Amino acid sequence: VETPAAAGALIADEIARRIAADPETVLGLATGSTPLPVYEALPARLAGLDVSRVRGFALDEYVGIDPTHPESYRAVITREVVEPLGLDPTRVHTPNGALATIEHAGEDYERAIAEAGGIDLQILGIGTSGHIGFNEPGSSFASRTRVKTLVEQTRRDNARFFDSIDDVPMHCITQGLGTILEARHLVLLAFGAGKAAAVAQAVEGPLTSSLPGSAIQLHPHVTVVVDEAAASELT
Ligand code: F6R
Repeated sequence: VETPAAAGALIADEIARRIAADPETVLGLATGSTPLPVYEALPARLAGLDVSRVRGFALDEYVGIDPTHPESYRAVITREVVEPLGLDPTRVHTPNGALATIEHAGEDYERAIAEAGGIDLQILGIGTSGHIGFNEPGSSFASRTRVKTLVEQTRRDNARFFDSIDDVPMHCITQGLGTILEARHLVLLAFGAGKAAAVAQAVEGPLTSSLPGSAIQLHPHVTVVVDEAAASELT
């Protein structure tokens, strides 16, 4: 696509089409900057559709961050998705990063996804480290929702959302690669030259846990939407 806005329009059209066909659609929601054009394009396209039964599952959450912190992914999903789209907040879930319950938070999240019947369309960004979700290099392709340590590069990349890198949490809870691969349709978006190497390796490189995004090659239904800059290292 020529611009992130064009990608947003394309994917928002697909999401609206799905919700029109199935008002119980289950969306997999990424956070970060990449999916914002999709979320911005959605309200106009959902106008007039019944979204009261749509469900959502975020990919990940920081561990030990208060859900009311403006950069917790619970807060981001509420602000960017639930409120503007008019979704039922009780049907939109984020992994629970509270320390008190962290031991079983992964299993709880997996159970909630299974009880919803699985994810129909999973939106993905990709990190410069090659992560999808927060599955940093070394993540097993069979992994399920669990606690991970963020690599230094990801904390540097995400420092823009916080006062300083020291405020970026060290740990996260993320859907595993195995969890992500069970969604029925994966939509990976990437914009800008900073993502070019990760995109090329994910799409054309060897399947390797060193580049977790390469796991998408195992999935039978993936759509990759990139701008020229993010596509620049594809051969
Ligand atoms: C966010 C997530 C991450 C981001 C990735 C890219 O929920 O799981 O994989 O998609 O870090 O982040 P942005 O879009 O901010 O460049």
